[in-house]
Amino acid sequence: MKSNILIFVIGFAVALSGGYFIFGDSASTNEQVQQSATDEVEVQDEAESADEASEESTTIAAEARILAQKGCISCHAVEGLDLDGPSTGPDLSNAYNEVKAKHGKSLEEYLNEPTTAVMASFVADNPLTDEEIQAITEALILASEE
Ligand code: HEC
Repeated sequence: MKSNILIFVIGFAVALSGGYFIFGDSASTNEQVQQSATDEVEVQDEAESADEASEESTTIAAEARILAQKGCISCHAVEGLDLDGPSTGPDLSNAYNEVKAKHGKSLEEYLNEPTTAVMASFVADNPLTDEEIQAITEALILASEE
């Protein structure tokens, strides 16, 4: 049992240090393990701050996240929310106001049962819950007000 723990500890130390210290002087082992443990912490810090930076540069309004989560912006831009996207589908900035005139039903009804080809097949493959439709509608109301 004890030897299992020892093997685990050694294995962990080897993994941490990249195996280098076993070739070195055993007296300096502790120091090197400590050193590599510090390195690891530093690397993590850097990774975290990189994450934060990229989050900041791609900050989108919390209300708009649903559009990214549901894949809408892989076909639509929403300029009103500063969301870039291809022009596969129309820019949705004013969809909240336009859908009724264009498609004869409210945005909620349209998203629930789209009457156009691409959206009908997208929604058939990726059904939206009522909550998601609600969240999307709120995001697009916000977009139309920007
Ligand atoms: C595969 C590409 C694609 C994806 C993904 C997609 N759409 Fe569309 N969307 C289109 C296209 C193309 C149209 C134009 C009408 C059609 O052909 O269905 C459209 C039309 C619309 C319209 C009507 C806009 C107008 O002015 O007529 C709305 C609203 C809409 N999409 C919302 C969404 C939302 C919300 C999502 C995410 C849940 C989404 N779309 C995902 C391609 C896409």
